[in-house]
Amino acid sequence: MLTTLKKILAGAEKGRYAVGAFNVNNLEIVQAVIETAVEMKSPVILQTSEGAIEYAGMDFLIAMIRVAAKAPVPVVMHLDHGKDLMLIKKAIAAGYTSVMFDGSLLPFTKNVAATKKVVAWAQAKGASVEAEIGAIKGVEDLVSVSEKEAFYTNPEEAARFAKVTRCDALAISIGTAHGAHKSKTTPQLDIARLKKIDALVKVPLVLHGASGISPELVAKTKNYCNELEDCNRLEGANGIPDAQITSAIKAGIRKINIDSDLRIAFTAGLRETIVSDHTTIDPRKLLSLSKKLTKEVVRHKMELFGSAGRA
Ligand code: G3H
Ligand code: 13P
Ligand code: ZN
Repeated sequence: MLTTLKKILAGAEKGRYAVGAFNVNNLEIVQAVIETAVEMKSPVILQTSEGAIEYAGMDFLIAMIRVAAKAPVPVVMHLDHGKDLMLIKKAIAAGYTSVMFDGSLLPFTKNVAATKKVVAWAQAKGASVEAEIGAIKGVEDLVSVSEKEAFYTNPEEAARFAKVTRCDALAISIGTAHGAHKSKTTPQLDIARLKKIDALVKVPLVLHGASGISPELVAKTKNYCNELEDCNRLEGANGIPDAQITSAIKAGIRKINIDSDLRIAFTAGLRETIVSDHTTIDPRKLLSLSKKLTKEVVRHKMELFGSAGRA
């Protein structure tokens, strides 16, 4: 059933687990995520980025997520990293039950002002709002101590921000990064900072850039395509280890965003199929291993996040 981010995260707060927010761009990924949520009896957040909307169209994405939400588990339809205020307004009017306003690169007062505007629009429609304070940067190794202070979330500032904006969830920066290259070595999340933020901020906390980038799936994805630029870019890819995700949940993270792991799994399946099956021209056959591997990633996350069995 379709629900709001506020409601789903209240359950997570009570049970001290996190809910996975999976980026969806096409039918097969929507099906992989919702089928797994049903099998695992897990609440789930299906999120679409502005890029996903540009690719698939908002109406198609909404229609697919509405069908997915007929499943007997709580489902949130969420806009990920909304930066375009008009698009956010449109998403709320069209029925998204949650939107993110990403003002993380704006000065504090501008971020507050724009977030407040989005909160007012969302409240009028009963939708939730995720906001962000602190910038989620690139390679952690390159972040010096002074840069940490500039980009990582400041606990007192986060508390003030959440209080004045009245957002429903807050994304913070504690050492994760978007994409497959999170760090040159194993990333180290700033759990001490997270604990301080959790003690001061009253709303549930969100972790972006949380993919694990499993070496096994990276190897599979690179199979058959060592010559391609795309695969060379996966060389040295490094994600957030499961143990650090567990520590982050213990310290208060309640929503965890996953995209890169789904992309890597989907692509691994597609490459393997195209190379090993020289006979089919049937897209349904070409995409079936992609869906299976995507489901395996989602299953693992639901177990790791502790959301399995909570629906
Ligand atoms: O954090 C962003 C997500 O990975 C979405 O990426 O904008 O390429 O869809 P995208
Ligand atoms: P990853 O690139 O680590 O999957 O992060 C996705 C994300 O934060 C989407 O908002
Ligand atoms: Zn993100």
